[in-house]
Amino acid sequence: MKVDGKDIRTIWLDKDLKVVKVIDQRLLPHEFVIVDLKTVNDVINAIKEMYVRGAPLIGVTGAYGVYLAVLTCPDKTIKDGYLIKECNRLKSARPTAVNLAWAVDKVLSEVLKVNTSLKIDAARKEAARITDEEVENCKKIGEHGLCVIDKISGRKRGDTVNILTHCNAGWLACIEYGTATAPIYAAFEHGMDIHVWVDETRPLNQGARLTAWELGKHGVKHTVVTDNAGGHLMQHGMVDMVIVGADRTTCTGDVANKIGTYLKALAARDNGIPFYVALPSSTFDWILRDGLKEIPIEERDPDEVRYVQGLVQGTTKSVLVSPVGSPAANFAFDVTPARLITGFITERGICKAEEQDINRLFPVH
Ligand code: MRU
Repeated sequence: MKVDGKDIRTIWLDKDLKVVKVIDQRLLPHEFVIVDLKTVNDVINAIKEMYVRGAPLIGVTGAYGVYLAVLTCPDKTIKDGYLIKECNRLKSARPTAVNLAWAVDKVLSEVLKVNTSLKIDAARKEAARITDEEVENCKKIGEHGLCVIDKISGRKRGDTVNILTHCNAGWLACIEYGTATAPIYAAFEHGMDIHVWVDETRPLNQGARLTAWELGKHGVKHTVVTDNAGGHLMQHGMVDMVIVGADRTTCTGDVANKIGTYLKALAARDNGIPFYVALPSSTFDWILRDGLKEIPIEERDPDEVRYVQGLVQGTTKSVLVSPVGSPAANFAFDVTPARLITGFITERGICKAEEQDINRLFPVH
């Protein structure tokens, strides 16, 4: 994607092949800072503290974390046991997005297959392959999702299509295009009249800070709304469809995504509005069947709820919102049951949120 005219991805390997570069997303939209990750600890910290976030990007960062584990291994024989331990540390950096374990395990398995002298190359190549595959998958999600938007646009005789999204499932959450935003960018490129309602997404405001920023940079019409506005907008015919991303999807179609997604799905169902989840296959957890019971929901520092970050006289600052001493709880994700989801937009096409139809698109997993 372009930032101020320059093509940029959310993660890349520096020319010397020793440093992984990422955007520090904690500082957006007011500061654009690139950070160097040189060790496994740097990668774990970047994922935990959310310099990088969003399921596909967390996965790819984890993949490069395995590369750094091999590259910086203190023992030149690069023992399997050491790598497996480092990979376990990487996988536990954040619990909900399944892409992290998926990508780490993929790189690890390539590294374990080859002799010591080939391990660095094997890790780098697999991390790069996963990165390119995620880019390609997001591009295809855009193409498939475009058809859905096109139909709505046709029904509205070219009138503005209003799409509501939650959190940031944009290119910042991925490598390019995004998942929920890929169909939006595709529709925009095709000259369709679209407008995006951007949920602010408390507590960390990924919608207000990140989705609004990237849509703005791209020139897509959008409006930031409070998290609680969606139901009202839907009741008054101001939303034609909802598209969100996913952090983990069971083989039966339940979806974990940013906290508040479930409430949007309920409101969409009550108002007869299509509710789509855009996801690459790396977000499927093929083992889990019951999202509510089985998907681990991350609980983060309550201070993320108590404080809000923003620009104060040109400097990014945190301010305390709640009374000093009031307890807060910070559940980072919720689960939307399959029954509330109109369909999945995947790299292989669109399917229902049902095991049989998911298996039609993904017979082998
Ligand atoms: O806590 P975050 O910012 O990592 O949560 C991100 C989300 O919930 C996204 O909506 C999800 O990962 C889909 S990203 C393509």
